[in-house]
Amino acid sequence: MFNFQSTASLIFGNQEAVNSTDQIKTLLGKNIFIITDKGLTELGLLELTIKKLKTHSNIKIFDDVESDPSKSTLLKAFESAKEFDSTGVLGFGGGSSMDVAKLVSLLLGSNQDIETIWGVNNARGPRLPLVLIPTTAGTGSEVTPISIITMDDKEKKGVSSKYILPDLAILDPLLTMDLPANITASTGIDAMVHAIEAFTSVNPNNNPISKMLSIEALKLLGSSIEVAVFDGKNINARSNMLLGSMLAGKAFANSPVAAVHALAYPIGGLFNISHGLSNSLVLPHVLKFNSLNEDARKNYAYLAPYLFKNLENSKNDEKVCNHFIDLLENLSKKLKLPYRLRELGIPEEACNSMAKEAMKQTRLLVNNPRKIEESDAFNIYKAAW
Ligand SMILES: [Fe+2]
Repeated sequence: MFNFQSTASLIFGNQEAVNSTDQIKTLLGKNIFIITDKGLTELGLLELTIKKLKTHSNIKIFDDVESDPSKSTLLKAFESAKEFDSTGVLGFGGGSSMDVAKLVSLLLGSNQDIETIWGVNNARGPRLPLVLIPTTAGTGSEVTPISIITMDDKEKKGVSSKYILPDLAILDPLLTMDLPANITASTGIDAMVHAIEAFTSVNPNNNPISKMLSIEALKLLGSSIEVAVFDGKNINARSNMLLGSMLAGKAFANSPVAAVHALAYPIGGLFNISHGLSNSLVLPHVLKFNSLNEDARKNYAYLAPYLFKNLENSKNDEKVCNHFIDLLENLSKKLKLPYRLRELGIPEEACNSMAKEAMKQTRLLVNNPRKIEESDAFNIYKAAW
C-alpha cells in the first residue's frame, strides 16, 4: 500500500508566469498577497505578471523573505496578509519564499495556532488558495507538502501536510536564466539529493512512482547541470533543470528524504549556509556511510548510470557505487562549489554540536537506509570538514 499526492495543477513553459495570469486571478481572487524576496523585486522579475494581475485584483507585496526563513519572518508575513484581507497567496521565488507562502496561506485559512502545526500531518487546514512560482531549480517546493522554517534557537522545524500543496504551480524556465552559477550549482545538487534520497528512502511509503520520477529527474539533472552552471543562458539546460527539480520534488514529496538532509540542516541553521550547499557538503560522506548497507549500495549502483551517462552498469555493485560517490564529490569541485566545511569558516569543534543537532531530525533520519547514531553523524561531519 502507498499513497501519492502532488500539486493539483501544473503549467510548464517559457513566459508562462506572465501568460497564466488569468488562471492566477481566477484562483486567488480579489486581494492577492505576494510573498517574495528583495533580490527578486529589485530584479523586476515579477513586474509584468503584477501589471497584468493588477487589472482585476488588488496586490500587496511582502518581499522580506530571507534565505532559511525565520519564524519571525513568517509571522510578519502572516500579519501583513491578514491586514490586507487576502483572498489568495502567491509565492514567488526559491524554496524560502514558497515555504513561507505555504504557511501563510495555511495560517490564514485555518486559524490554527502556529505552535501546533509543526511535524507530520499536524496541520489541519484548510488554507487560502495558493499559487507557487519557483525561480530556482532545486527545492521542488512547488510540488511538495513540506515547509521548513528556522526557529529562534536556530533549529529547523518542518510542516508536512497535504494541506500546503498549492492549487497551481507555474514553472517558467525564463525566470531561472539569470541565476548565478553558484546558486545554479548548489540548488541543482539539492535536486539530485532529493532524487537519490527518495529512491533509496526506507520510508514505508516509498513507491514505484517516486522511483520512476527519481530516475527521470537524475537523467535531466545529470545531463544539464554543467551546461546550466557554465552557460546560464542555455534555455534547454535551464528547462531540464527546472523540470528535473520538479520531478525530484514530486518523488521525495511521497518518499521522503533522509540523512543527507538531516545532516545538512544544522550546517544551514548554525552557520547560515544555503540549503543546497549544505547538502552538497555532506552528500558524498553520507553516501559512503550508507553504502555499507547492501541495499543502499545496490540502489546507488543502479542509479549511477542515470546521473553519470558514462558510468556503465556492471555486476560489481561495490565498484560502481564507489565510483558514483567519487563522481558526486568531484561534481562539486567541477561546479566550483566549496566542498569542505572548513572552507566556509566552520570550526572543527562544531562537528560535535552539529551532530547533536542532526539527531533532532528524527522525521528524516528514520528514512535513512542505514541507522545513524550521533557518533556516526560526528564522523560524517569530520570527514566533510
Ligand atoms: Fe532539499
